[in-house]
This record gives sequence, structure tokens and C-alpha cells, in this order.
Amino acid sequence: MGEGIIIKRKRADTKMRPRDHVAARSREAITPLAPSAETTTLRAWAEVDLAAIARNIQAVRRLLSRSCRLMAVVKADAYGHGVVPVCRAALAADAAWLGVATLGEGVALRLGEISAPILVLGGLTAGEVADATAHGLSISITSQEMAEIVLRHAGAVPPVHLKVDTGMTRLGLFPEDVPVLLDRLTAKGVPVEGCYTQLACADEPDHVMTQEQLVRFRPALEAIRARVPRALIHVANSAGALTSPHTHFDMVRVGLAMYGLYPSPQMASLGSLHPAMRLYSRVVRTARVGPGTAVSYGAAYRTKTSTTIATIACGYADGYPRLAGERGEVLIRGRRHRIAGRVCMDHLMVDVGDHSVEAGDVAQLFGDAISADEVAAWAQTISYEILCGVGLRVPRIYVHNGVS
Ligand SMILES: Cc1ncc(COP(=O)(O)O)c(C=O)c1O
Repeated sequence: MGEGIIIKRKRADTKMRPRDHVAARSREAITPLAPSAETTTLRAWAEVDLAAIARNIQAVRRLLSRSCRLMAVVKADAYGHGVVPVCRAALAADAAWLGVATLGEGVALRLGEISAPILVLGGLTAGEVADATAHGLSISITSQEMAEIVLRHAGAVPPVHLKVDTGMTRLGLFPEDVPVLLDRLTAKGVPVEGCYTQLACADEPDHVMTQEQLVRFRPALEAIRARVPRALIHVANSAGALTSPHTHFDMVRVGLAMYGLYPSPQMASLGSLHPAMRLYSRVVRTARVGPGTAVSYGAAYRTKTSTTIATIACGYADGYPRLAGERGEVLIRGRRHRIAGRVCMDHLMVDVGDHSVEAGDVAQLFGDAISADEVAAWAQTISYEILCGVGLRVPRIYVHNGVS
């Protein structure tokens, strides 16, 4: 993803907060933020509010102790928001570290002239470890096999963080293997910079699994504290950062919350995050049709009465999930309309009844008036997948709304 277009403008109208939007949903017509005027030639676009990114980081920061650092997790093109502008906003808002999943994502940031500390969270091959050194990236030791690679290349490896598997059974070293490995790494002069684990159930506050994971992490924690006292300990993701101070340690790794969404609906009552992305498209055709007219593939939708079908230039190739067809809603002229029939690759259709809708009208697919969580529910998935799924052909338009 390139740097996109950066626009500075004032917020267009309402001062609605996320909670207000929940209430607003029950009203018939709502007033979302107007999209920026600079998008008049676009068929679909994702507006990304960098001020919201900054405010969300500050909102999380307020929950942390002064000494606790914040890693902005910017893998997958910053959850679809566009990585370089998001990193700049996050760093300016006091994120100390950046987290990426792959070597390529880290290198892309260095090429984008981002000089902040970057941790690659995923595992690497021997060749990739050498590239990480060349680009000044910190790496995670994600398996015993990778530990052996690092030991073989000791002297030419970047700073390492030990990733510990305490219950995800995805990546990491077993906690009981950490003390011996630490001895071998330090004996060979490998710079050990951190030690971390990933929580599996922190999105459900007080889940017993979180406590169990912290207990399993303890041998690793004690070993590293004894051998490398300056190493950074980090455990919490967004959910942990928002709700579980005992998981904060020296740093929290924050992804979803920075993008303004809550890891679970119960957390929405915390109330100070603002969704940074709004996905918009345009009505490209309206058709007045009679009752019984079939709409979209499979003719699965039939109009009940005379009505207007509006075609919107956004489909599953743009990241709007096909599964949201029939259930989902889009916002046109401040009013929600139900998707009629199946979502196509490049288009979806909505039944707007007798409401006045014209070709050229802007439709909001998600953002402030319709949340990514709602779209996720329609598509039987989670908001993470909706954000990451926004297609490459959808330009990201950067704005800086500066809402108080
Ligand atoms: C290791 C690790 N830490 C932190 C995060 C950020 O998680 P969240 O977006 O829930 O804050 C992720 C994301 O999946 C991750 O894999």
C-alpha cells in the first residue's frame, strides 16, 4: 500500500461518539460524517482518520503506567488502514514500538523511512534473519528450530525477543525450555531484548485462561528477569491493555484498539475509541422495478412491491464480505437500506423502496454510522477480518479530523 492521499479537514458535522451511534442506529435516519470532497471521482474508497488513530493510542496510554511502553501492531498493512501513514500517526502519538508479522512488512517500513524500533512477531528462516539484521529489525524466536538458527548465526543476529507459548499452541518456546535457551543465547552474546506471550482469551475479561497463561509464563519471566533484567516483558494485546492491568508488564501490543474497535462487545462500554476507517462507495445506477423482480446471482432476492434497486460499486473484491448479502445494510442519504440479494465481486444492490436515491450518491458500507462490528456479525466473522479484508484496489484517503 502506498502512502495514499493525506487530507486535513475539520469534522463535517456531528460530535457523535461510538455509544451515540449505537443509540442512533435505532432511529430511522442518522447523520454520519460526510466523506471528504476530494473523493468525487472514486467508485469506492476507505477514509482513514489519522487523528482517530492518535486519539485511540492516547486513550489506551491513559490506562497504562507511565513506564509501560506501547507497541502499535501494524501488521497486514496496519489492519488494512495503510501502514506508513498509520505508523507516523502512531509514533507521533507516543507509540514506542511497531509490531509486524513478516520480514517483508518490517523492510517496507524501513523503506518508508520509519526508524522506530520494529519487532517481527512471526517466525523467520535463516536467510530472513540475516535480512532482519541488515534492516535493523528485532526478531522473535518463535520455535526451538529458530533458536538453533539464531545460535548458529550468533554474532550476526539482530536483537531477539523470546516468544513463549503459554496456551495459544501457535508459535513460541515452551516456558520450561526458556532458562536453558537463555543461558545458551547469552553465552554466545546474542542480544536478548524481550520476552513475550500472546493471550488467547483476553477479549473475555476475567477468563480463567488468562490467569493460567500468566502462571505458565512465570518460569520464562523469572529466568529472563534473573539473566537479562533490562529485557522488555510484554503480554497484553488490545483486550489485555483495555481491561487487565496485571497483563501490562513493560509494554502492551495494541492493534485493534488503535484502529478504534473493541475486541469484544462488552468492552464498548469503556467508550473512548473512535473507528479510524470508513468504507464508502457510490451508487452507480438506480432501477425502478415492479414486484417479483429478481436481483443478483441466483435470483435469491425478489422484490415484494414496486421499488427502486440501487447498485453500489463495491463488492467482495473490495472487501465487502459476500456473506453479508441479504442481511447487511448500507447507509445512503443518512438512511439504512438492506442489501438485496447476493454481493457480487464488484457491486452490491440495495432495495431503497420509494426513498429518493440517485446515481452518484455516496453510500457508507461501514465506519461511524454502521460499525465494522455490525458488518462482521452479518458475515459471521470478527471486525479484524473486515478491516484487513478491504481490497487493494480501494484507495485509502487520509484525513485528520482533529475531533475534540
Ligand atoms: C503477537 C500479537 N500481539 C499483539 C497483537 C494485537 O492484537 P489486537 O489487535 O487484539 O490488539 C496480535 C494480533 O493478532 C498478535 O499476533
